[in-house]
Amino acid sequence: MSTHNVWTHKGTFLLAAVGSAVGLGNLWRFPYLTGENGGGAFILIYALTIFAVGIPILIAEIMLGRNSRRSPIMGMRFLTSTHKTSRGWETIGWLGAASAFIILSFYSVIAGWALHYTGLMLTGSLDGADAETIGASFDALLASPPLLTLYHTLFIGASALIVGLGIHRGIENGLRVLMPALFVILMVVLVYSAAIGDLSAAATFLFTFNVADLSLEGWLQAMGQSFFTLSLGMGAIMAYGAYMSSDASLTRTAFAIAVVDTAVAMIAGLAIFALVFGAGLDPGEGPGLMFVTLPLAFAEMPAGPLLGGVFFILVLGAAISSSISLIEPVAAFLVERFDLERPQAVSAMVIASWALGLLTVFSFNLMAEDTLFHTLFGRSAFGLLELLTNIFMPLGGMLIALFAGWALTHGEVMKEMRTNESWFRLWRFLVRFIAPAAVAFVFLRTIPQVEG
Ligand code: PFF
Ligand code: NA
Repeated sequence: MSTHNVWTHKGTFLLAAVGSAVGLGNLWRFPYLTGENGGGAFILIYALTIFAVGIPILIAEIMLGRNSRRSPIMGMRFLTSTHKTSRGWETIGWLGAASAFIILSFYSVIAGWALHYTGLMLTGSLDGADAETIGASFDALLASPPLLTLYHTLFIGASALIVGLGIHRGIENGLRVLMPALFVILMVVLVYSAAIGDLSAAATFLFTFNVADLSLEGWLQAMGQSFFTLSLGMGAIMAYGAYMSSDASLTRTAFAIAVVDTAVAMIAGLAIFALVFGAGLDPGEGPGLMFVTLPLAFAEMPAGPLLGGVFFILVLGAAISSSISLIEPVAAFLVERFDLERPQAVSAMVIASWALGLLTVFSFNLMAEDTLFHTLFGRSAFGLLELLTNIFMPLGGMLIALFAGWALTHGEVMKEMRTNESWFRLWRFLVRFIAPAAVAFVFLRTIPQVEG
């Protein structure tokens, strides 16, 4: 293995994986789904899936990447041929590419909202504003297809440029500053939200539960979100794992990713719901939740416009370090498989994903009341894309778990995990039986209800 195939520092895989994991999933999607699904019960299912299913699969996914040292689709092809198993396992790579393509399409639209808010903050437009004004300004943004399309284009273009130029592996220094800075400013936001809002109502909402309150679709969303937030089950982590140095610990790395990711989501959730309950807003507000609450805290803070601007810039940084990890596996595949030049591969993927993103843009305005789409699918186009990711990611994760659990040999796994026999046994039991059974259980309960 030549050195340029490996991350430049031993800790860089961790940094890149945290960069992929921490993003809009924590700050935007986690709070809004939790709010829509009534709070604690949703979080309970979410947390259970992270720790009993997510971490074992995270270990499996890094292992497959590091073992094959290839992009996900070519890596699965390589692993199935060396193990003389069915080429059907290559579905893992394909499914992952499909998920990445769909997620990028709406991820970029939402990141575009953060771009808009960076501007609103830095110009002081929302300084001192009340909840009503902030809500109205968000509605005005959603009503404008040209504006949303512009931001979507800028964000996806910037992500494509970073991957296309191959400099995504060089942004480790940026992440080293960005991640701690994001954490610090989130704590500041939390303190302000607690001061002007209702932190104890937030804590009650998030941490007390009645599982019977959770709808069936809520189960699927909670499981889907735990895969989404860890960037799991779709090849992003596998693609990065291919560059991970052989002597870094798989188990410790996987736990670190999950703990940091969960901490960021919880802090964001507490801050946002403290503001919601303080200002009498609706927890089930939907995808706009983050954007109609956090600006309230910045409206009150000293130097609020500046801090708010910095905050949304950091959000954009976290979003871009996630979006590049969506482009990377697909681009690497197109390069390996079709001999494309890197810039061509990236353009092909991103242009297609950009076009699909227009569906999400229009979901909030032109197609918001579109009866045909709603009658056919029972939800908006954006809702349908999210539903697909809630299914594809756990399905991909389940296949990864089964492959790592049943096809890899004891020797190979031990070579990667270098751990004691009892942790190996526990891990293998989790990926062979528990993780696949948990995914199957949620699918069997929920999917029959969701259709139609
Ligand atoms: N984990 C990212 C987030 O929480 O924002 C989203 C994501 C990135 C999902 C990369 C999947 C992925 F491959
Ligand atoms: Na995340």
